[in-house]
Amino acid sequence: MTTNAVTMEKLVALCKARGIIFPGSEIYGGMGNTWDYGPVGVEIKNNIKRAWWKRFVTESENSYGVDAAILMNSRVWEASGHTTSFSDPKMDCKSCKTRHRADNLIENFSKGTVDPDTMSNDEMEKYIEEHHVKCPVCGNFNWTNIRTFNLMFETSRGVTDESQNKIYLRPETAQGEFVNFLNVQRTTRAKVPFGIAQIGKAFRNEITPGNFIFRTIEFEQMEHQWFCKAGTDEDYYRQFKQKALTFLLDLGFKEEHLRFHDHEKLAHYAKEACDIQYLYPMGWQELNGIHNRTDYDLTRHQEYSGKTLTYVDPVNSERFIPYVIEYSIGADRLMLAVLSEAYEEEELEGGDVRNVMHFHPALAAYKAAVLPLQKNLAPHARELLAKLKKHFSVSYDEAGSIGKRYRRQDEIGTPFCVTVDFDTLENGTVTVRDRDTMSQIRLSENELIDFLREKCAF
Ligand code: GAP
Repeated sequence: MTTNAVTMEKLVALCKARGIIFPGSEIYGGMGNTWDYGPVGVEIKNNIKRAWWKRFVTESENSYGVDAAILMNSRVWEASGHTTSFSDPKMDCKSCKTRHRADNLIENFSKGTVDPDTMSNDEMEKYIEEHHVKCPVCGNFNWTNIRTFNLMFETSRGVTDESQNKIYLRPETAQGEFVNFLNVQRTTRAKVPFGIAQIGKAFRNEITPGNFIFRTIEFEQMEHQWFCKAGTDEDYYRQFKQKALTFLLDLGFKEEHLRFHDHEKLAHYAKEACDIQYLYPMGWQELNGIHNRTDYDLTRHQEYSGKTLTYVDPVNSERFIPYVIEYSIGADRLMLAVLSEAYEEEELEGGDVRNVMHFHPALAAYKAAVLPLQKNLAPHARELLAKLKKHFSVSYDEAGSIGKRYRRQDEIGTPFCVTVDFDTLENGTVTVRDRDTMSQIRLSENELIDFLREKCAF
C-alpha cells in the first residue's frame, strides 16, 4: 500500500542522500540551479540515454547518430532565428528587484486555466494589470513593462581583445543535425525519409530556472530530426507523436500520467507542434516536444551558408529541400519524470514503511546487488560479483542486517538482490529477491546471467 504522494522535497532529499543528484558546486555554497549527478544518478541517466538511442537510432530502420560541436559558427544562430527570436518575456519587480517570466506569472496566477502561450506581450501585460497579479517574492504590485530577454549564453573566442568574436553555447542540439544533413546523407547513402539523432548538452540563460532538474541553465537534450518529403510530413508528425508516447509507456510510465498538449501559439519555424506533458510533483508540465518544422531550417541554412542543401531523389532525380519532423526530449527532464514515477513509500505488514524506486530494470543504476549473508561468505560473494560485473552494473553490500541491505537497494531501485548463503557453497544456488514483490526464488549461479539479461532488457 502506498502511504504518501511524491513531493519535490522528498525527491531532492532522496537524490542527495543516495548519490543520485547533488547540488552543483556544493562546497562553495552552490551555483543556482546547477546539479551534479552522483554515482547512482549517472548510471540511471546513462541508461535513459541508452534506451532512447536504442529506440530512436539503433533499432530504427533509417536513423543515424551524430555528435556535433557545442560551439558552432555564429551564423548558424542567425540562420536558425535564435539571435532574434529566442527570448522570453520578462518583467522586473521594481520593489524587490527580482525578475520573472510574464507567462509564468499568468500561468501560476490562473492555476493553469489561462494559457499564456496564446497571448501577445501586450495581452499578457493587460492581463497582469487587470488581475493585479502580484510579485510572488515580495507580494507587491510594482512591475516594469515586459521586455524580451535572449536566452543564449554568449562567450567569445580568440586570445586577444581585438580578435574577439562573439560565439554562443548552443541552446539546442538540433542545429548540429541540420548543418550535417548532407554529410550524413552522402556518407550513409540514406534515402529520404531518414533521421538524424543526437544526444548532447544545451545551455539556456533561463530567467526562472527551478523545480530541481526540470528547468536548468545547462541540460542534456535527446533530439531526432526526421527528414521527409513535403506532403508526407503530417503523417510522419502523427507517427512521431505515437512513437514518443510508446517510448514512455514502454519505460513504465502510467498512461494517466501522460497527456498531449497541442500548441496554439507556434514557434517561428513550426507548422504544427505539441508536447507530451507529464504529471510532475508540481503539476502537468512539458516533458518533450514534437514539431513539424517544415523546410524552414534547411532553407535558412542554405540561404545563410550559400551551400545548396537540396536532396536529389535517386529514382526520378527530383530535387527538393526536405521537411523535418523533430522529436526532442530533455534527458534531465525525463530523469525527473522517471524518478517521480518510480517513487513509492510502501506501507508493509506490521506498519513498517519502505521507500522503493520502481524503475524499469533497464534504467536501474545496478541490475543486481550481491549480498553475502554473513561476512565469512564474502570471498565467494566477491567471486560472483566479479563474474556478474563483466555483464552488468552490479552493487555489493556486506554491512548490516540483510533487511537493512534490502532497504538500501530498494531506495535506489536495484531490481534484484542476490544473497549468497551457506547453500551456495554446497549446491551453487543463490537467493534472488525481487524489488517490487519482495518474493524470492532460488537460482543456480549459472542461470543468473541469463535471468538478469532477460529481466533487464529494454
Ligand atoms: N530543438 C527544439 C527544442 O529545443 P524545446 O521545446 O525548447 O525545443 C526541447 O526543448 C526539450 O528540451 C523540452 O521538451 C525539455 O524536455 C528540454 N528542455 C528545454 N529547456 C530545458 C531546460 N531549461 N532545462 C531542462 N530541460 C529543458
